[in-house]
Amino acid sequence: MLTRKLRLVGIVVIMVAVGTMLSSCTEEKEAKKKMDIEVKQFGTTPDGQKIQLYTLRNSKGLKAEIMTYGGILVSLQVPDSQGNMGDIVLGYDNLDDYIKNNPYFGCIVGRYGNRIAKGKFSIDGKQYSLATNNDPGGIACHLHGGIKGFDKVVWKAEPVEQKDAVGVKLSYLSKDGEEGYPGNLNCTVTYSLTNNNELKIEYLATTDKPTAVNLTHHSYFNLTGCERDILDHQLMLNADKFTPTDAGLIPTGELRSVKDTVMDFTQPAAIGARINSDYEQIKFGGGYDHNWVLNKQGDEMTLAAEVYEPTTGRVVEVHTNEPGIQFYSGNFLDGTITGKAGKVYNHRYGFCLEAQHYPDSPNQPNFPSTVLRPGQKYETTTIYRFSTK
Ligand code: GLA
Repeated sequence: MLTRKLRLVGIVVIMVAVGTMLSSCTEEKEAKKKMDIEVKQFGTTPDGQKIQLYTLRNSKGLKAEIMTYGGILVSLQVPDSQGNMGDIVLGYDNLDDYIKNNPYFGCIVGRYGNRIAKGKFSIDGKQYSLATNNDPGGIACHLHGGIKGFDKVVWKAEPVEQKDAVGVKLSYLSKDGEEGYPGNLNCTVTYSLTNNNELKIEYLATTDKPTAVNLTHHSYFNLTGCERDILDHQLMLNADKFTPTDAGLIPTGELRSVKDTVMDFTQPAAIGARINSDYEQIKFGGGYDHNWVLNKQGDEMTLAAEVYEPTTGRVVEVHTNEPGIQFYSGNFLDGTITGKAGKVYNHRYGFCLEAQHYPDSPNQPNFPSTVLRPGQKYETTTIYRFSTK
């Protein structure tokens, strides 16, 4: 009798143990199941290239969509403080609209993020001429890599699965002379969505001739879920100085203290609080459109910026090993663009935080160098970390 009972207990114990093993396996599978990479077609370019859309999902339910045209982050779903998901980047629902008229929504910018004065620079005494595709204040300059920058090329893509992240690795060979830049530049940009709720962007490049490189990412964020303008978002920039510009938005070379100016975001302040001030720099930019000099030494990762949106509680922190960050308050948006889900993007409907080297560095001997030489590795990382308060 006793042995029978013991045997029964034994069987029950084994059943429970197997059950627990099975359920922990299922839980593991569940976590894995939630982390996911999906690839689908997202249309065809006018010259017949098929564009893919990579959907990344982390184990917390965050979702990022990235396409091979321009390496564009098409959507980014993150929770608010109640757990409601919302898409917090501006963009379009289809490829054609991105091709027709994209003010750099969500793209990879290259070879050179931001402006180069008069589209000219020289390295080792050799002059290079680039397209002048922008003219703020009526003054011509080169912007964001030229007429067909990295935001308009088709990248090769492959999925990247890691223990705590899912990603897509994009590669592009920019040929010697492309858009006027010297050297064959081999680039890879890897976007990963980590289980820490980070969108991590790693940039790598090598060249076979000395050249200038400054790669960045150009999402327009709107932490309300793109419900209204961004003027009530609270911004902190970890920078005691910025690089003032002339009327053509080209840095003068000065590193100016933000102290007692409307450029001071060392303590969090609403983006809209001082945006219409008479400060000359604000007038030039039509709002904020400047490079801040990050408080850091060398190329270690630093918290560069933090933005908090009070109605949804959403927070984004930007960490980078770059020396600067361009804060652009969407001043050129004017309501003429209708984006995803029929939303009209009015004035200052999104903000960009572009981790970068300072604008016009190839012509500014006092700025950290953007020259990349054969044998050297260009390697930078920027992380957008999402949370709620
Ligand atoms: C950058 C520039 C702005 C503007 C936008 C794109 O942020 O600094 O002046 O050109 O890109 O519209």
